[in-house]
Amino acid sequence: MDNNKNNSQENASEFYSRYKNFYIKKYWDDNNGENFYRPNGFSQLPEKNYMAFVSEIDKDGKILDLGCGNGLMLKYLEITSGYKIVPYGIDFMEKSIKQAKEVLHSKHANNFEVGNIKDYSFKKGPFDFIFAILYHVHPDDRNNYLNKLKNNSKKGGKVIFYEYLDVLNLKKYDWVGQFPEIKGWKLDRKDYSGLSVAVWKK
Ligand SMILES: C[S@@+](CC[C@H](N)C(=O)[O-])C[C@H]1O[C@@H](n2cnc3c(N)ncnc32)[C@H](O)[C@@H]1O
Repeated sequence: MDNNKNNSQENASEFYSRYKNFYIKKYWDDNNGENFYRPNGFSQLPEKNYMAFVSEIDKDGKILDLGCGNGLMLKYLEITSGYKIVPYGIDFMEKSIKQAKEVLHSKHANNFEVGNIKDYSFKKGPFDFIFAILYHVHPDDRNNYLNKLKNNSKKGGKVIFYEYLDVLNLKKYDWVGQFPEIKGWKLDRKDYSGLSVAVWKK
């Protein structure tokens, strides 16, 4: 999953361009756009993982996926959660966002944008649910990013941190709540096969 380096020795712009190039190659090389799973890192629909995300949705509302790929997870939530949700997403892969806007979320195309999650403006917030990754935000940017998540959650809303275990293993963590920047947060730990989730409620 990774081309891990000692992140603390790499500046932020090198860090992001390394990951962007890595994911473009891995998810989009020789992908003619017909496979909707690969732009999110999967070979087939990851129903077990997505069901873990569905279980967090307990009301209608606005849902933001930071690192949304082509929006497949949001589509899955829309179809299976039983709630009326409005999807929003950002990803630094242009081709993935194009697919979100044109194919999976054409009715909400304006809610999807190309960019780095650490620069998300939150102009369309606040949000009822925010799905957030942390490993792919450079350590120097994490506190600012985390403050924005807190400030742009609705009262009664949730920030759902998640990481796949192959990424956590690189840090020798066994759950996502071990990132030092969120150690002081009151988090609800949820362990799934191959996936770690930590939920913060505002
Ligand atoms: C494993 S995929 C998950 C896609 C989707 N959230 C899902 O669950 O199906 C992770 C996505 O995060 C994106 N990503 C990673 N770091 C990012 C960053 N700093 N800014 C924007 N997107 C990022 C990658 O391009 C990739 O599409």
